[in-house]
Order: sequence, then structure tokens, then C-alpha cells
Amino acid sequence: MELYDYEKKHIELLRKAACECMVLLKSDGTFPLEKACEVALYGSGARKTIKGGTGSGDVNVRHYVTIEEGLKNAGFQITTSDWMDEYEVKYKDARKLFVKEIKQDADKKGMPAFLLGMGAVMPEPEYELPIQKDGDLAIYVLSRISGEGSDRKPIAGDLKLTRTEVRDILYLNEHFQKFMLVLNVGGIVDLSPVNHVKNILLLSQPGMTVGDSFADMILGKQYPSGKLSATWSAWEDYDSEMDFGNPDDTVYSEGMMVGYRYFDTKKIVPMYSFGFGNGYTTFRWNVTNVKQQHTKMNLSVNVENVGDFRGKEVVQVYVSMPSGKIIQPYQMLVAFQKTKELMPGEQDELNLCFDLQQFASYESGTSSRILEKGDYVVWVGTSSRDTRDCARISLKENIVVEQLQTIGQDSVDTYGTVKRSDQIKEYEDWFNRLSDEELAYLCVGGFQEKGSQSIVGNAGMKVAGAAGETTSIFTKEGLPSLVMADGPAGLRLSRQYGVDEDGIYAVGDEIPAALVEFVDEKILAMLGNSKEVKKERNGATYNQYCSAIPIGTALAQSWNVTLANECGNLVGEEMERFGVNIWLAPALNIQRSPLCGRNFEYYSEDPFISGKMAAAITKGVQSHPGCGVTVKHFCCNNQETNRFHSNSVVDERTLRDLYLRGFEIAIKEANPAAVMTSYNLLNGEHTSRRRDLNVMVLRNEWGYRGLVMSDWLVSGFAMEHKYPSACAAGCIKAGNDLIMPGGEAEIQNIMEALHHPDSKYSISRRDLEECAASVIRTVKAFV
Ligand code: BGC
Repeated sequence: MELYDYEKKHIELLRKAACECMVLLKSDGTFPLEKACEVALYGSGARKTIKGGTGSGDVNVRHYVTIEEGLKNAGFQITTSDWMDEYEVKYKDARKLFVKEIKQDADKKGMPAFLLGMGAVMPEPEYELPIQKDGDLAIYVLSRISGEGSDRKPIAGDLKLTRTEVRDILYLNEHFQKFMLVLNVGGIVDLSPVNHVKNILLLSQPGMTVGDSFADMILGKQYPSGKLSATWSAWEDYDSEMDFGNPDDTVYSEGMMVGYRYFDTKKIVPMYSFGFGNGYTTFRWNVTNVKQQHTKMNLSVNVENVGDFRGKEVVQVYVSMPSGKIIQPYQMLVAFQKTKELMPGEQDELNLCFDLQQFASYESGTSSRILEKGDYVVWVGTSSRDTRDCARISLKENIVVEQLQTIGQDSVDTYGTVKRSDQIKEYEDWFNRLSDEELAYLCVGGFQEKGSQSIVGNAGMKVAGAAGETTSIFTKEGLPSLVMADGPAGLRLSRQYGVDEDGIYAVGDEIPAALVEFVDEKILAMLGNSKEVKKERNGATYNQYCSAIPIGTALAQSWNVTLANECGNLVGEEMERFGVNIWLAPALNIQRSPLCGRNFEYYSEDPFISGKMAAAITKGVQSHPGCGVTVKHFCCNNQETNRFHSNSVVDERTLRDLYLRGFEIAIKEANPAAVMTSYNLLNGEHTSRRRDLNVMVLRNEWGYRGLVMSDWLVSGFAMEHKYPSACAAGCIKAGNDLIMPGGEAEIQNIMEALHHPDSKYSISRRDLEECAASVIRTVKAFV
């Protein structure tokens, strides 16, 4: 397998980057090891290592290195291949049964099995397999996977450990001199039954070099320097009253009290706090200077490596707001910085600045952002619970930072009059020559009338395996289509494609790997995936090997915006190479509950680090001409249960200060090419149909000029639900410029709304022109 030069370069970068994302939760000083040796390797992730989650966030790589392979590459002798062979048999049997049950259930419910199977987590099976009695070194790799379409469950084999896992982990910990529990997971698992083991590493799912990076890390060629971007604790410690996973209405009654905001305010000491992570060394830090100018603060912090290994430290700043009229969580993150690599004895000087005004709270009664008078306590530390009270900002009077308008109410009719500040003059002449239908085509993704390959995440025509395109009907007029491909853990394309007289076609990878087993032959044939259809197409074939970067959560765990920027740069390079204009990432929804099936794609439970990471990766991608990103899913898309029709019920303060804040940071700092609205409803209306979000907030408050697109097939699945599906005309009326991936039904829906002024989502030609102008502007800027 001869790698291309770009692959070699990207592997080199990712191999190192992955270690920055790993969090050493516990250590007894055994690691790093002096040299490779015999190792008893166990656990679900030993051979079946997971590089990232499933669904549209999965990246089709040429190859990725498992833990077994990585250890072998590094010269370890694995003594437990038999165990891994037998485990595979147990796993396959359990999987067969699981798929069968889902198919039967789908049959009963009269729905396609892939909709039920999508992202469904198969609980890790229980089994009896003999393990080695004792030895010098044992490693247990525990893995969990999840993905779009389903949420996780607080049961054994998913969020909790199985009896088998607990038994084997505890045995190995006791009978081997050196033992490490390695967590190859995308989200939290409840470690309570095994939390006393000697060494625990959150390996996470750091992309295609996972096995090699792990070997580098335990051999001390690299070192872990990640910190948690979410609070890890026993399942029982999380907010038991949180309403989650309700198919119809999910009420966010906890308000701002999510993640560490909840734990700290309720004074619950978690197992591992937000921002926590050990390294192979220890650091001493001191605030050397504090400068305050009104609401702005600048802190200088000196960090010294006082241990005897290389390492990097992350300094974090939190603020406790005074509690006046507005209820405040105990503290919130306002700044962070990671040191450069420090050798033993070496020091670094960090500068951490913040302006309280950026963290002002929304007051619903006055629709304004305010800082209440009182003392603001500034905490500095190396995790959210390991901080020192280092400064104070005292405000004598309330400060009104911004006067805003009310959003997020349960009726959007009131927003029909909100004007877009966008100019459409630049295209007026052209628009005057277009028919209504032609205009409508501009606002709907490009689709083939016959044999459409439209399936979530795979409707591209110019680039095989891309998720979709804008229309190509104006190519001759100089407006080609814009190609969009998924993320966020890299670029999601087909590994191979063929070209014949009918155009391009994917060779494999047409359907996300995790879905194939749920899709029957009829649908496979429809998508050109069946063996017979494939035989008929004999064009020349080409490769598109993309790199899998760390999942969103892992990237956030690096607390290193430069690293996120480099990963963005890597993705941008591959976009240029394969002709992709828009990346459907980063995803920055808040990890509200540990159960959300897509948490691994998201960065954190905290909006500040989420926004910073999203901004950094955006700048990396967009440093490449013709490459843009899409921040998604805008907004309050915090669960997968009934994802097309679930309604998030959120008060305005929480909406603005928690769920919109990360988007605001990313948009204002990095100007992403596109924003993707979410599937869910917010307070009774689909986000794609909310003009208050898509026009008032995005365009008028934040000054955003990019493209707003819908998530895939928002109007597609017309099943019986409390809330109806979104519709194309409603999207256009609300300033959601583009409906993806597109189809004839959407064109018809828009045409009807245009010609029937009394329909619920009646639209004017001007509405359509505003959306079309936004699409054209993006195409011109990125193609
Ligand atoms: C997902 C998006 C994704 C899109 C295209 C949807 O199902 O929610 O995140 O970008 O499909 O694949």
C-alpha cells in the first residue's frame, strides 16, 4: 500500500495531534514504559478499535490503525490474539441478533429498518472468555460507539459497564504489575465500578492514527496533554430531573445548569471535573500580572514544568458572576490557553484576556444583555475545580451591554415583518430575467430527476460520496454547482469512484457503513449499490482517500486552538484536492446530556470552548481559497430521538446565553461560509422555519452574510408525529436560503406558496430573491 505524499503528511500531523486529545485520568507513574514488551491486550476496542462515530460524521478512510496493530507496529508482543479471535465471534453473534430484532421491530411499526437502526447502539454483550492469569503488562481497551439517529442509554453495555467488563478490568488491575484501562469512547461512560484502577486513559476516538498514536503515547515518544471538555461522573450524579429524549416536547427546564454549571452550582463533586487531565509531568503556575480596564482583564500566568517529563499545561480562567436579579451558575469559563511543549524545568508565560461584556447575561424582561452590579470573582486554574481566586472586577452600576429583540417565542408569525439587511441589488438584473421556477431552483439543492441518489449524506453528483450540491442548471450562465461534503471528523467521500459516459458513480461507500446491514436489496439496487448494477458500469476508477481527524469532542479535549486550526487546514487541503467547496462541519451543539447520540461530533458542554474550537477549525479550512465550512446544527439540536420532529422547549435566556453563544463566537470570529439549521423544532416551530433565528439573530444581530441551509431532507419523512415536517416554503419564508439535498417536491412546494397568498407559508418573490442572492453569493465566493 503505497501512500500518496499528502497522506503521509497528514498521517504525520494526526499521529501527534491525537496524543494532544487524550486525557490521562489516572496514573500511578507506571507509564510511559521504557520499551516495547509483552502485553496482554483485552477489551472490545483492542482489535475493533473505533476511530470515530457512525452516520454522516463517519469518514471513509483507506485504512486506520487499530490498537492491536499500533502496538504490533511499535514492537509489542501481544499474548492474547486467541482472546481477540474469540471475542470477535461473540460480537458477531450478538450483532446478528441485534440487527434481526431491529428489522422485526421496524416491520411491526411499518417503517424502514434503516431509520430505526441508524446510530442504534448495540449494547456490549456479556461473555465468558478465559483471560491470562498474570503477567507484567495488561491493557484493556473499552470501546463504545454511537451516531446520528439514536441516543445512548444509561444501561450496561452503553453508558454503563457490563458485568464482563467490570470483572475483567478488576482482575487485570489486580493480577498484572502494570495495567492501563483505555477508554476508546466518544462520550461519557460511568466508571464508578472501576474507578480505583491504577491507570485510566481517555483515548477518545482520535482518528485514523489511533493505534500508532496510542503506542507512541505509552512509550513516551509522545505524551497525553488533553483535558476534559465535559464533566465525567457516575450516571446517578447527573441531573436526574433533566427531561431528555422525549419524542415530542423536551423541556430544558434546567436552564443554564448544564455540565459543570450544574455540578458546581449544586455542589456535587464529580469524578472528573470539566477541564481536568493529568500528564506525565507536573506543573507549577503563578499569576504574575493582572491588568484591569473597566470590564476587561488581562492576566499573565507563568507556568513551569516541575516534573521530569515533557508536557503541556492548560490554564483556564473562570468567572463567578454576582447573583442579582438573574440566576447565575456558580462559574463559567471565560478564557483558556495551552502552553508550548515544556521540557523539565522550562517555563512559559501565558496571556489570558477576556471582556466580561462578552459574557453578559440576557434579561428576558428588558430583552437586553446586562452585567449586573457587584463583584465578579476571577478564578484561575488547571481544571474547573482546581482554581485559585486571583482577581475581582467590581461593578458599581448595572451595565446594559446590548439592547436586543425578543426571540424564540412560540409563534413565528410575529417575525414575518423582520427585514433582512442583505442587499440583493447586485443580482437584480439577472433575477428580472428569471422565471419564478428558475428562482426556486436556485434555492433548492441540485438533484437528478431520474434515479436520484438522494439519501442522507450522499446526494452529490460531481464528487462521489459528497452529501449534496446546489443546482447545476445555470452552469452555462457561469453559475456552477457548489459541492458539499460531510464532516466533522474529516472529509466524508467515497473512497473510490468510477467515471463512464453517464457521469461519476461511487464504488462502495454509497450508504454509510453503519446503515448497510439495515437496508434491504431493493433499496441497495435503487441506489446503484447492488452487485448486478455495479457490473454494468465499467468506467475508469479513481481514489479519494480522506483523512479521519479526531472527533469533535477529542479535538476540544486538546484545548489547543492552533491544533484545531491545523486540522482545519488539513481538511481544506483535501477539499481542494477532491473538488469539495463546502464542508458540512464543524458541529457545535452543546452536550446537554451524556445521552445524546451525536455528542462525539460536538465539542463540549460549554459554549465558549465550543465556539473557540469551531472558529479555529473554520479559519483553517477557509484559509484555502474556495473552501468554506458550515457550522451546524443551528440550534438546540441536543438529542437524536425523533430528530426530525422533536421540539426543544427552551427559555430565551438559556437559548441566548448557552445554546446560541458558541455559534455567535464562531460566526463573529471566523465568518463561516454557511450555517445549517437543525431538524428539531424550537418552542413549537422548526428552526429552519424561524425567521427570528435565521434573519433577526444571524443576519441582523450578528451581521452574518453567508449561506443558511437546511439539514438534509427536512421535509422528507412524512410520518405521524405531534409536529409536522418542515416544508420548503416555510424555510424560504424564514430566510433559510437553501433546502438540501433538494428534490422536485420542494420546488412544487415553493411554487404553490408563491402563488397562494393565503397559504400558511405564503412567500413573495422578494423572499425567494433574498434567498437566491445568498446562494449565488456563496457559489461565486467558493467555486
Ligand atoms: C445530518 C447532518 C449532515 C447531513 C448530510 C444529516 O442527517 O444531520 O449533520 O450534514 O445529514 O449528510
